[in-house]
Amino acid sequence: MRKIIVIGASSGIGRQVALDFARGGWRVGIAARSEERLKEMKSQYPDRIAYSVIDVTADDAPRRFLDLIELIDGMDVLLMSAGVGWLNPQLQNDIDTQTVAVNCSGFVRIIDAAYNNYKSTASADRGHIAAITSVAGTKGIGIAASYSASKRFQSTYIDALEQLARQEGVAVDFTDLRPGFIDTPLLNGNHDLPMTMSLGYAVPLVERAILHRRRVAYIDWRWGVVTALWRALPRAAWKRIGLTVNQKRT
Ligand SMILES: NC(=O)c1ccc[n+]([C@@H]2O[C@H](COP(=O)([O-])OP(=O)(O)OC[C@H]3O[C@@H](n4cnc5c(N)ncnc54)[C@H](OP(=O)(O)O)[C@@H]3O)[C@@H](O)[C@H]2O)c1
Repeated sequence: MRKIIVIGASSGIGRQVALDFARGGWRVGIAARSEERLKEMKSQYPDRIAYSVIDVTADDAPRRFLDLIELIDGMDVLLMSAGVGWLNPQLQNDIDTQTVAVNCSGFVRIIDAAYNNYKSTASADRGHIAAITSVAGTKGIGIAASYSASKRFQSTYIDALEQLARQEGVAVDFTDLRPGFIDTPLLNGNHDLPMTMSLGYAVPLVERAILHRRRVAYIDWRWGVVTALWRALPRAAWKRIGLTVNQKRT
């Protein structure tokens, strides 16, 4: 039986991927802070799902993550889906520091533990670390500075570990999943965002990219085109683009 661990599985993309893999016969380890939601998911597939309450900003997150791997008896794939994000043109410091704590420090806690686990575990199969970053990581976005920077951090971190893995002979593949807007609680009820995708549309694209071990996958292809266009813009043009959306914070 194949095994996947999903961190940030209590909601949105992570929750749907976890349930779909359980339905597909995988053994699934799920983690997040909201225990009641994790319990409810386990009740849907009691024999296939195991859960652990993990706050990626806490020091004990790596140990709890390794315990979860043991609980499901190994890990063929890690999906790192835990993340937070807000629009923050006022640069409220609590928002920015929380974003960095979860999306950067928390990300490193889990990804490092996964990498070292694959490094120290002898297996005939290659490991797989997949992370949901964002199209936002491809450019600095003024109204979401810490979010876009944290997502760039995640993509660069994966690039770096790919090089390190080759250097150290660690058998692990990496997938950088870069969605555009998907209708999940992360959007905080902002319904006027362009090209917003439903979970039902976007999650199968995420799952296909994981199963095919794609190195980088834009979700969906239109967002690949958008990012290619905005990455081609000269700096002088990018700084003149004033992005605005109605803001809400839950
Ligand atoms: N939705 C989009 O438009 C979009 C676009 C691009 C990228 N993404 C990325 O996709 C990933 C998943 O987001 P989503 O849209 O599915 O949002 P979501 O529904 O808000 O899910 C976020 C998940 O992260 C978990 N999480 C947050 N803080 C955590 C912490 N400190 N420790 C452990 N888990 C934590 C949450 O669980 P608990 O609250 O229970 O801990 C939840 O399960 C994020 O990395 C996000 O940046 C989303």
